[in-house]
Amino acid sequence: MIDIEGPVYIAGHRGLVGSAVWRHFLAQGRTDVVGHASSDVDLRDRDAAFDAIGSARPGTLVMAAARVGGILANSTYPVDFLNDNLRIQTNVFEASHAAGVERLLFLGSSCIYPKLAPQPIHEDSLLTGPLEPTNEAYAIAKISGVLAINAYRQQFGRRWISAMPTNLYGPGDNFDLTSSHVLPAMIRKFHDAKVSGDSVTLWGSGTPRREFLHTADVAAATDHLLKNYDDVGPINVGCGSDVTIRELAALVAEVVGFEGDVRWDATKPDGTARKLLDVSRLSALGWQARVGLRQGISETYDWYVESITAA
Ligand SMILES: NC(=O)c1ccc[n+]([C@@H]2O[C@H](COP(=O)([O-])OP(=O)(O)OC[C@H]3O[C@@H](n4cnc5c(N)ncnc54)[C@H](OP(=O)(O)O)[C@@H]3O)[C@@H](O)[C@H]2O)c1
Repeated sequence: MIDIEGPVYIAGHRGLVGSAVWRHFLAQGRTDVVGHASSDVDLRDRDAAFDAIGSARPGTLVMAAARVGGILANSTYPVDFLNDNLRIQTNVFEASHAAGVERLLFLGSSCIYPKLAPQPIHEDSLLTGPLEPTNEAYAIAKISGVLAINAYRQQFGRRWISAMPTNLYGPGDNFDLTSSHVLPAMIRKFHDAKVSGDSVTLWGSGTPRREFLHTADVAAATDHLLKNYDDVGPINVGCGSDVTIRELAALVAEVVGFEGDVRWDATKPDGTARKLLDVSRLSALGWQARVGLRQGISETYDWYVESITAA
């Protein structure tokens, strides 16, 4: 097992993923976890990145800082998604190399894989076909991050790795209906309809299959990979099973306590029929997801209710 040497710098420690990694390491009893808000250290600024990482001198860095958004934001601002992510990554990697960071884990996303990759999607599908056009710019930036990690390994012998998580959800998720992902959007829609007594209308046929992983699991997987994985990437991070959107809706309705009508607007697009990651490489390292979907949705719903009650 590889030691996770401190300090552990978490870039993006206030985001959905970074905050879960932060909580995970604190729960492990670590007292050497550090990070900066983007308002204090804008990682698009090379000097700021060098100052922050150079003075923290981390032994380990988890790269969860990125400009992230939904389909609308990605297709409206592709230049920003491409340039910001390339800048953030390049600066963090160069600054980490200059500071001698031993272990670095770069978090990408399953959108790096071709739109029509065979299911479940194996890591070897990378760069074998065209990408989903709606977030192509973001995906290209992430692919460049994966290649950069491999290049630092090849040219400088850095023991850096890259991990590609599936769809994530959990406490602290984004519930804004104009930019949220499918699971938090459903939680919010079912909650609002429970309160108002209305029906719920969901997009598409409900037949596409999707995989969901709780952020506590992605944080645990990050820890496990830092301790057990040291190879050219990427490596997929998922739970290995998927559900139909209709099954997901039934589960969310049950957790929220919504008993009204659910309507499916079949005039709206379904998207890809199935998106499931092949996690055999990760399973072979002895890791598996722990948080069941019902339990995870329930925790996320509790967090959502608390956040709107406190607001
Ligand atoms: N959410 C998912 O379903 C999912 C799935 C697969 C992979 N991922 C990957 O996981 C990573 C993190 O995603 P997330 O969902 O946690 O996103 P998020 O909640 O939007 O968090 C993004 C983080 O990046 C930081 N950041 C953004 N721009 C920055 C800048 N210019 N300088 C410094 N920090 C900056 C933000 O800092 P502040 O909060 O301080 O502004 C925030 O902490 C991404 O690489 C994403 O591709 C996410």
